[in-house]
Order: sequence, then C-alpha cells, then structure tokens
Amino acid sequence: MILMTDYELYNLNEMNGWIIGPEFGINTPYYSSLFNLGRTNYLSPWKDPMFHYHTKSIEIYLVLHGELWIIIDEIAVKLKEKSMLLVQPGVFHAVIGGKGTIQHLGMKIPSKEDKKIIKEKIDDYEKIIENITKSGFNQSPYRQLDPNHGFVADLKDESNINCWLIGLWDVQYETEKFCFAYINLETLEEKNDHSHQDHLHYHTESTEWYFTFKNSQEIFVKDKIVKVPERYLLKIPKGVPHKQLSLSFPFEGATIRTPILDDKIKLN
Ligand SMILES: [Fe+2]
Ligand SMILES: [Fe+2]
Repeated sequence: MILMTDYELYNLNEMNGWIIGPEFGINTPYYSSLFNLGRTNYLSPWKDPMFHYHTKSIEIYLVLHGELWIIIDEIAVKLKEKSMLLVQPGVFHAVIGGKGTIQHLGMKIPSKEDKKIIKEKIDDYEKIIENITKSGFNQSPYRQLDPNHGFVADLKDESNINCWLIGLWDVQYETEKFCFAYINLETLEEKNDHSHQDHLHYHTESTEWYFTFKNSQEIFVKDKIVKVPERYLLKIPKGVPHKQLSLSFPFEGATIRTPILDDKIKLN
C-alpha cells in the first residue's frame, strides 16, 4: 500500500477478508469511518452461520466471478457473475452458498457505529434455507424485493453500466448515503460515447474510491499522475483536486463516492 497524504493506493491482489474499515484503528492506513471493504479472491462458496442485519450500514455484494447465493428478506437471490445486491440496514440476510470459485467485493457504507445483529439462534436454520431456496430460486429475485429493503442489479445490462447506478438524482437506485458506478468499456470510442470531459475538481465532503478490475486507469491527483493498475484501489480524500486522465482498454472498474449529501463539487 502506498500511503500519501493526498491519496492512498491499495494493492488488492491476493487479499481476502475485510481490508478497509473502522476496525483497523485510526492510525493505520486501512482505517476508514466511511467505508468497509472486504474481498474474496476465488474462494469456494461459504455459508453464514445465521441471518443478520446491520443497524446503520448499507451492505453491497458485488460479484465479479462465480455465483453467490444470498437470502434477503426471505427471498433467495442467485447473484451471478457481474451482478450486485444492495441490502438496506435492518434487513435480515445471509450468504447460503454459491457455485464455482467466488471473487467478490463486500462493502458497508457508512461503516462506523454499525452493529451486526444476529437473529436469535433458531434450530431449524437449515430447514428455513431449504424452504426459501426451493420456492425462491425458481423465480426472479427482482420480483418481490421491496426497494426499501434492497436492490439487485445485473451489470451485464447496458442500462446499469457507465453511469451512476446508485446515488441521488437520475439513477436506478436512490440513496443519500453514496454514489456507485460500474464501468465497462471495450474501446476508446465507446468511452467517448459515454462520458463527458472530466475537469480538475475536488469534493468538499466526499471521499472518492476508484477501483480497477481489468487493465488500468490514470488519475491526475493534485500535482501528479497516479496509475491504478488491475486489482488496485485509489482513495482520494475530500479537498484533494483530481481528474480522470485515461483508461487502457478493455477497461473494467467501479467508482464510489461517500458521503454525498452535503458534498459540493468545486472546479479547481
Ligand atoms: Fe451483512
Ligand atoms: Fe471526483
């Protein structure tokens, strides 16, 4: 990890488990009160021992490889490769298995002061899972999921990519807690069709996180060019001027901004 005052660059290669969050202590480079990031790197499917909910955090499961099976709100969701699930605070959920080897990112936003509440011990946990999956997996997960409780997005669907998917204003899923965009661009021509010219700017409140999943991107940060290679993450704190300079193609990545509610974007 390269730690600078103006940015932090994380090498996520080979990392498994929770990587960034409040539990790492304020004096460590992996501390963040805003953002909890975890990752599995081609792990076999697993099963949570119990249903649980979060008191404060929205949780996101972003599946990049393999298939992850999750019960949310008594609905069984198969998260296939290149799909994501958002779980609102207070909504019971559990990972119950999957298929293949799973590479995924887990995020909790905001992360500080969140408590994980585990459902009281129930003897027939396995039986409940069996019943829900029997009826649920055969049906569309999009059908019943209450938007106040969660959201499933297929990232192979063109309308979900190369734009803000989650956040405020004109987005598929509205929340005041953060913005999220999944980027998948095959060529420079495709990029030119989608995005506007990025100007040097800074955020008054938000921290911005740039992920690279495939190939690389270059971001101009304050006075230098920072290359974010494959499976790296760049963190840009509030107040630091930045601008996306270039991508190498085919590019795949994601951008997250949090918090967003009182943020102002100022041109430098
Ligand atoms: Fe959770
Ligand atoms: Fe920005």
